[in-house]
Amino acid sequence: MSYIVNGKTFSQEPRPGQCLRTFLRHLGWFGVKKGCDAGDCGACTVWLDGRPVHSCLTPAFRADGHEITTIEGLGSPEDMHPMQRQFLEAPGFQCGFCTAGMIMTASALTDAQKQDLPHALKGNLCRCTGYRAIEDAINGVAGIEVAAPGRAIGTSVGTPAGADVVTGRAEYTMDTELPGMLHLKVLHSPHAHARIVSIDKSAALAVPGVHRVYTWEDVPRRLFSTAIHTDHLVDPDDTYI
Ligand code: FES
Ligand code: FES
Repeated sequence: MSYIVNGKTFSQEPRPGQCLRTFLRHLGWFGVKKGCDAGDCGACTVWLDGRPVHSCLTPAFRADGHEITTIEGLGSPEDMHPMQRQFLEAPGFQCGFCTAGMIMTASALTDAQKQDLPHALKGNLCRCTGYRAIEDAINGVAGIEVAAPGRAIGTSVGTPAGADVVTGRAEYTMDTELPGMLHLKVLHSPHAHARIVSIDKSAALAVPGVHRVYTWEDVPRRLFSTAIHTDHLVDPDDTYI
């Protein structure tokens, strides 16, 4: 199969059932984010032949032979798409995790769609900026200022990471790749309330690629609370791992 991503051609077979989101990240396009993996949040939005799609809902094989644009292909820190610049200058982001998808959707909106942003952006959720800053960005309202030398206090300066955030270059924890890196998966009990008598790890350890399985036996005999209230005395220290 052949994919054109941001102008580059990749000949690669997706895994059976693989969605476009994981396929693109596997190819190194980490600007494609994972929020929900269920079509709700839009963090994974890319363009397929110029139209925004949720890549977590798009089977990778459907993109075979089509042109895909991710946030990295929309523009670069040196040569931004106007919508990337508007998000930078508003600024239309806080943590920036939704920003790539938000910009991919916003940059494809028609003028008529921009008149009804709650409807036009219903497929993109932001959990931390608040939508006013995003609305400002889309409407081209700039909020950041350039600080005169020695006058930074009281000035709304932009974040140093801004250009990387709006162009999909900012590295988030899940974007880190190191040679030989392993992944950790937490397995929760399938039972709401049960007494665990023993854990047989043998089947899990026999799975190719599994290096270790950690259980309560591997951690220090020190209990802590999973409830994560600021005052730990509110909740019982009830777990080892
Ligand atoms: S990760 Fe695709 S919609 Fe949330
Ligand atoms: S900027 Fe943090 S989720 Fe939107």
